[in-house]
Amino acid sequence: METSKSAIRAESLDELERRNRLAEEGGGLERRERQHREGKLSARERISLLLDEGSFEETDKLVTHRCTDFGMEQKRIPGDGFVTGYGRIDGRTVFVFAQDFTVFGGSLSESNAAKIVKLMDMAVRVGSPIIGLNDSGGARIQEGVVSLAGYADIFLRNTLASGVVPQISAVLGPCAGGAVYSPAITDFTLMVDKTSYMFVTGPDVIKTVTHEEVTKEQLGGAATHNEISGVAHFMAHDDAECLAMIRELFSFLPSNNVDDPPRRACSDPVDRADAELDTLVPAESNQPYDIKLVIERLVDDGYFFEVHEHFARNIVIGFARMNGRPVGIVANQPAFLAGVLDIDASVKAARFVRFCDAFNIPLITLEDVPGFLPGTQQEYGGIIRHGAKLLYAFAEATVPKLTVITRKAYGGAYCVMSSKHIRTDLNLAWPTAEIAVMGPEGAVNIVYGRELSQVVAEAERNDGPLSEERKQALLAAARAEKVHEFREQFANPYIAAERGYVDAVIPPRETRRRLITALEMLDGKRDKNPPKKHGNIPL
Ligand code: HXC
Repeated sequence: METSKSAIRAESLDELERRNRLAEEGGGLERRERQHREGKLSARERISLLLDEGSFEETDKLVTHRCTDFGMEQKRIPGDGFVTGYGRIDGRTVFVFAQDFTVFGGSLSESNAAKIVKLMDMAVRVGSPIIGLNDSGGARIQEGVVSLAGYADIFLRNTLASGVVPQISAVLGPCAGGAVYSPAITDFTLMVDKTSYMFVTGPDVIKTVTHEEVTKEQLGGAATHNEISGVAHFMAHDDAECLAMIRELFSFLPSNNVDDPPRRACSDPVDRADAELDTLVPAESNQPYDIKLVIERLVDDGYFFEVHEHFARNIVIGFARMNGRPVGIVANQPAFLAGVLDIDASVKAARFVRFCDAFNIPLITLEDVPGFLPGTQQEYGGIIRHGAKLLYAFAEATVPKLTVITRKAYGGAYCVMSSKHIRTDLNLAWPTAEIAVMGPEGAVNIVYGRELSQVVAEAERNDGPLSEERKQALLAAARAEKVHEFREQFANPYIAAERGYVDAVIPPRETRRRLITALEMLDGKRDKNPPKKHGNIPL
């Protein structure tokens, strides 16, 4: 009797082992090797690099598809091409799914969509991030509409989870058609150079419809989406680097919207004064300098984790720590397009501000902005509504907000870049700050236009007709004098300081200490927006 019981037990364990092995083998050795030949890791290899060693607990490993068309009942693989489960990153729980390209090209079936939905619902219930590792041919063609339904179920969860738990998408292979909209809704998208691509319609369809010839890489490779479209926030050289970047990114984020971001011990002195900062901004206000050098001098250990590094480089965004506390940094970049605000820069920064606000990450804004970019391209493209996004995002944000004006704060951009008037908690200015309705050159042309046009006429009345050269010289001298006058009067921080629009004008060297003590002061900040269903950000 005893013997047969244990034989049954052994058999049942064998069956479990067989099914687990099938799941782990996925589409088989040959397809896995192809994956490696193409420079890609397998779904399971990716998960083990992403998570703390040995922490992965797989769920729904034995789920199979239910399709009976096209001979599919003969081709059932446990797990059905998606590896799902939970584990830890630096000891904190995360939920993860990885598409296994070796099984039906990682395509989405009704069954594996249900696995993801289950995972996402659990992640929201427990307040932990969702990380998706995408490598898929899209909707499972053999299943038709039930696969599309699966995508829609996921999109709904992405939307409902937005602002509740961080969602991170890595695109590590194909991600095509409507499938792109899941990463697009999530907070951050990472891509791997040369092995990943995303597009709504591929090169073949484009050729048929528009006769345009374009390669997959040109159309939707990592460089395209990092530099041109802004769809992706990070570009890695290979899968391993991409997964390490996710771990790094997560170190700045809370697990959910009611937690605070994780603090670290900090050995960089809070009151570290940096004399280099005093001379970093060039005396000439049209000379460029690299705002990243300022950021690195202010933050803990000079470590800045830049987001969207290759896109809209006239604004810089990213995470850093101040006395161990994660902060989000938004900074105009005078070294690129003079730090002007254009459509891409506005949208880039607005989305980042909203992310930080949703996840209790204080915002530090470094401002040196000559204004919005003029021109028909920008106006026709809707700079009005796109610029409004950034204004709206800063205005609605209730996390601690600090601003440092390093140099220019001109015109509407002064209001937009986290000014005092839109509820910024502490606004500091360096003595080099220039706060005015517009730059002195433009202002002088408008305010003194009539006066300047009379300079030449008056000289000719006194001295008779003048050569063209002399006229130009006279005009230039008169204009330079007015520009100087204007700069003396307006292009400084003192009028704003007298009115309390900046809370303090500080020596640049003191900036780190001032920011950190302000963050401590704001630790208990509780600010709310009026009750509403949701606002109507100008999309
Ligand atoms: C079922 C698929 C599949 C799919 C690939 N496979 N895509 N099976 N449904 N969508 C299978 C292939 O049959 C093949 O199986 C294996 O995966 C690998 O595919 P290959 O073509 O050999 O790989 P590769 O040459 O690298 O090309 C990859 C690919 C290509 C570019 C992704 O497979 C492709 O174009 N697939 C179709 C993409 C697509 O149009 N999907 C629908 C998009 S619309 P074997 O057995 O030979 O290994 C969409 C709507 C989303 O997704 C809805 C949201 C609104």
